[in-house]
Amino acid sequence: MKTSGGSDAAKRRAGEHAADLVTDGDVVGLGTGSTAAHAIRALGRAVDAGLDVQGVATSYASRDLAREVGLPLVELGAVSRIDLAIDGADQVSDDLALIKGGGAAHAREKVVDAAAARFVVVADPSKETATLDRSVPVEVLPDARATVRRAVRDLDGEPTLRAAERKDGPVVTDNGNLVLDCDFGALPDPGSLATALATTPGVVAHGLFVDLADEVHVGHADGVRVRA
Ligand code: 5RP
Repeated sequence: MKTSGGSDAAKRRAGEHAADLVTDGDVVGLGTGSTAAHAIRALGRAVDAGLDVQGVATSYASRDLAREVGLPLVELGAVSRIDLAIDGADQVSDDLALIKGGGAAHAREKVVDAAAARFVVVADPSKETATLDRSVPVEVLPDARATVRRAVRDLDGEPTLRAAERKDGPVVTDNGNLVLDCDFGALPDPGSLATALATTPGVVAHGLFVDLADEVHVGHADGVRVRA
C-alpha cells in the first residue's frame, strides 16, 4: 500500500484511535492509504477478539488488506447504511476541507465516505494546513485526458499526468481511468473549484472533499487530537 510522508507512529495512533469508535454490528467504510491501513489492521484484531463488523472497501488495496486480516467484507450495493467511514487524507485545512487521491482511490473513497453517517479522517500532523495548496488529483476517462487538461488550464491549473512508479506508463485507477495531478496553487475557496471540476465532462472524480469530513483524528507523539 502506498505510503506518503509523516511518521508511521503518528499514523498508527490516529488509525487505531478511529478504529476504537467502531461498535458491534457496524458497517464501516475502509479507506485507502497507510494511515487507513492501521485502522483496518486494528479492526482485524478486534474481529479476532469477537467484534461483529462488516467493511466496505474503497479500493482493491483496502479490500486485499481486509481479507488478509480477516475483516469480513460486504459490497457497497448490498448495504442500506454505512455507520462510519475511516479514511486518510493528503491535506486537511483549518475548516476540514480535504485533498485526497494520493493513492488514486478518491473516486470510490468519495462515494463511501459521503455515504457514511459519520466520516472520520485519520492523519498525521504533516497533513495539516491552514489553506489547501497541494495538487488536486483528478481522475479522468482516458479518452478525455486532452479535453480535461485544457479545462484545467482554463481554470488556471497546471495538469500533470500521473506516472506509474514501478513501470513505464501512467497510473491506471481501479476503475481503469487516468489521473491528472492539477496544481492550482493555494485554494482559499475549494468549494467553487470542486464544483467547476465536478461539472467538467470527462472528469470521473476529483480529490477535493469539501463539507464531507465530520472529524479529523490527528496522531501525535503523546496521543490523538480530535478536530471537529
Ligand atoms: C488515497 C488517499 C489516501 O487516503 C491519502 O493519499 C493518504 O494516504 P496516507 O495515509 O498513506 O498518507 O486519498 O487515494
